[in-house]
Amino acid sequence: MVIYMKYDNLIKTVKALFKDEPNTLALLSNASAFLMENIKDINWVGFYLKTKDGLSVGPFQGKVACSLIKPKMGVVGSSYSEGLIKVIPNVSLEENHIYCDPSSKSEVVIPIFNQSRVWGVLDVDSPIINRFDQNLVGFLHQFTLTLTNFIDFNNPLL
Ligand code: SME
Repeated sequence: MVIYMKYDNLIKTVKALFKDEPNTLALLSNASAFLMENIKDINWVGFYLKTKDGLSVGPFQGKVACSLIKPKMGVVGSSYSEGLIKVIPNVSLEENHIYCDPSSKSEVVIPIFNQSRVWGVLDVDSPIINRFDQNLVGFLHQFTLTLTNFIDFNNPLL
């Protein structure tokens, strides 16, 4: 219950942060910084956005990351291709996982939809196995849906 309350407050804060921000680059940059500041035990958070070549890394917080990921490749590419949230409790047990940082131990990827098409994904890594429990995934999903309402899909970033 305490955890739900905490995440509930974060959604309220984030709505205030996103409001009146028409620039999608600024929006995604602050969204990644907001998550890095407010979620404990994560070491990478950011966006991969669809381009003609695959999924290119967008605004993020953390170490240098893989810059282009093909559809179906890794957790990012499979979330994109299937349009599904992917929760990986232990990345060392996941065959279709791309290592960008060996200190990442668990991961969640959440697709961002523009109508029925996946426009990009939110990717979060943790140095702790099994970091992404139902509460945290639920919050990140809610966060992504909130963010989606503020993205200007008519002005592509890439
Ligand atoms: N691990 C991801 C690659 C991106 S990084 O985690 C930033 C994957 O398997 O797709």
